[in-house]
Amino acid sequence: MMRFAYVNGRFCAHPDAAIHVEDRGFQFADAVYEVWSVRDGRLMDADGHFQRLSRSLAELRIPEPRSRPALERIIRELLRRNRVSNGLVYLQISRGQARRDHAFPKQAITPTIVLTCKRLDFAAADRRAETGIGVITVPDQRWARCDIKTVNLLPNVLAKQAAYEAGAAEAWQVDADGYVTEGSSTNAWIVTKAGKLLTRQADNGILHGITRARILDCAQRLGLEIEERAFTPAEALDAREAFLTSATSFVTPVVSIDGKTVANGAPGSLARALRETYLAEA
Ligand code: PDD
Repeated sequence: MMRFAYVNGRFCAHPDAAIHVEDRGFQFADAVYEVWSVRDGRLMDADGHFQRLSRSLAELRIPEPRSRPALERIIRELLRRNRVSNGLVYLQISRGQARRDHAFPKQAITPTIVLTCKRLDFAAADRRAETGIGVITVPDQRWARCDIKTVNLLPNVLAKQAAYEAGAAEAWQVDADGYVTEGSSTNAWIVTKAGKLLTRQADNGILHGITRARILDCAQRLGLEIEERAFTPAEALDAREAFLTSATSFVTPVVSIDGKTVANGAPGSLARALRETYLAEA
């Protein structure tokens, strides 16, 4: 089946979709992105992702190239053309194309906008949630503004690759003080032996996950005790449960860390309850 992308105002065949060699996203990672899951044809947590997109652009002083209604129209058409009703939408906006120079171009340039989508097998994700996954820990090598969703993802790429090479599914990054920041593309959580739900505070050291915010909301309504604070890998290994969250994996139990099992090595009941609550409302 023919795939389509959207680049700077045009839908085009996916193999022909291209940007200029002097695009600042390509040369400097001077670009932001967003990822929405699509379930039964609908964008999940649409508001949160659009709001975070606006914030990321504002933080980098990149003008918004399209209004939200315009973006939503483009996304609907992209999903229709690609016949995707369960999957994800990827949106990237760079500062634009200019003669290579580190500082912003003196003259205003038009941001580059790219959208793609693909199908995802949510049944496979459900099966992963039933068995749980393993994570490894790696040093967090990223910059000081991980709250901005930029395409500056090389440390995340290397962390994920290290996880795969170790036979794990995700890498939990650990800061210089020995605390877990987040996964390479997910937020990290534990449930302590006393039953308290912990996830790192939404500071500049992590991406403020939209799923994270929704899960905090679900947890509150389930009456769970919650604390937003950093935890160490040792605390995670001593926990009753561990799990991760993201737009495409929802809530996925973590059953081993660096090859050592968490609790009894089976997914925990709170992770399951949170996943079910989140998906029931999504
Ligand atoms: N990743 N932390 C990082 C570093 C991420 O890249 C992501 C998202 C998250 C979870 O955020 P959210 O719940 O808003 O998806 C946390 C996306 C899915 C990606 O890069 O594909």
